Amino acid sequence: MVVGGTGLVGGALVRAWRERGAQVAATSRRGPAAGDFLSMDMTDSDSIRRAMAAWRPDVVAVPAADPYVDGCERDPVNTRRVNVLGTLAVARAGRESGARVIFFSSDYVFDGVQGVYTEEDIPSPINEYGRQKAETERGVLADNARNLVIRTSGVYGWQSEPKNFALQVRSRLSAGQEMRVAGDVRYNPTFADDLAEITAALASTGAAGIYHVVGADRLSRAAFAARVARAFGLDESLIRPVSSAEFGTIAPRPKESSLRTDKVLAAVGAAPVGVDAGLVRMRATMPAR
Ligand SMILES: NC(=O)c1ccc[n+]([C@@H]2O[C@H](COP(=O)([O-])OP(=O)(O)OC[C@H]3O[C@@H](n4cnc5c(N)ncnc54)[C@H](OP(=O)(O)O)[C@@H]3O)[C@@H](O)[C@H]2O)c1
Repeated sequence: MVVGGTGLVGGALVRAWRERGAQVAATSRRGPAAGDFLSMDMTDSDSIRRAMAAWRPDVVAVPAADPYVDGCERDPVNTRRVNVLGTLAVARAGRESGARVIFFSSDYVFDGVQGVYTEEDIPSPINEYGRQKAETERGVLADNARNLVIRTSGVYGWQSEPKNFALQVRSRLSAGQEMRVAGDVRYNPTFADDLAEITAALASTGAAGIYHVVGADRLSRAAFAARVARAFGLDESLIRPVSSAEFGTIAPRPKESSLRTDKVLAAVGAAPVGVDAGLVRMRATMPAR
C-alpha cells in the first residue's frame, strides 16, 4: 500500500512496485474521486483502519506528507498533525495488521554545517519541517524493528502539475523568464523513479532502519538549474545564482545537506544516478507535446 499515491514519490512507487509484479493499492485523501484510489486521510484514524482492512497490505509506504518547508514553519501545529501524528497512526495501524512501514524522510533532519552525512550522524534539524521528520523517524523506528526509513533529497521527475524544482526551472526558462536560484545551498537532486525502484529493491531484502537514497551528484541549486536548462535545451543564462539569504524564506535551510549512499549501495548494489542521467530518464517519461 502506498499512502499518498497521487504525489511525486508515491506515484513513482506505485509504478515501480507494479513493474515488479506486486499488487499495489494507492491512497488519496480524495479517494475514488481521484480515480482508482483507496480513500485515506492520515489525520482520520477511522479512514486508516478502513483502508488497512480493505487491502490488508504486508508493506505500507508513507510518502504522504505536508512537505512544504515554509508551511511547516508557519503552522507547526496543523502540519505536525499530518507529518508526525498522522504518519505514526499509520505505523501503529500497520503493526497491528502485521505490515511493516517505509517512511520517507529528508536531508533536512541535518543542520547542513558538516555535509556529506551518513546514516550514523545524529539529526540536528534547524527548521520545523526537519524537526517533524526527525521526530517521525524516531517514532516509526521505535514502533516496529522491521520498519524502514528512507532519507531522500530534492526529488525531481515528471508530474502533470509542475510542482518540483526541475519542472519549475523548465517552465520559467521556456517562458523566457529569468530565475533567481540559491547558489550557496548544496544537496543531492534525486530522480523520483530511481528513488522508487531502489526503495522497492531495498524493501524486497527486508532491510530495516535508516537508509540514504539520493542522487549521485552533490550540487548547488543554481548548478542543478543550469543542468536542467542544458537537458531541456533552454537558455541557462536566465538562471541568476543568488545567496539563499536574499530569498528571505521563513524557514532557514541547511547549507550543505548532502548525504552518503554507501549503505544502500552495499545492500542492493545500486544507488540513484547523477542529474544528467536522471534528466535524460525524466525527459523519456514525459508525454510528447
Ligand atoms: N520532493 C522532495 O524534494 C523531497 C525531498 C526530501 C524528502 N521528501 C519527502 O518525500 C515524501 C514525498 O514527497 P513528494 O514530493 O512526493 O510529496 P507530494 O508530491 O506533495 O505528495 C504528497 C502526498 O501526500 C498526500 N497527503 C497529504 N496530506 C495527507 C493526509 N493528511 N493524509 C493522507 N495523505 C496525504 C497527498 O495526497 P492527496 O493530496 O491525494 O491526498 C500526496 O499524494 C514526503 O514525505 C517529503 O517530505 C521529498
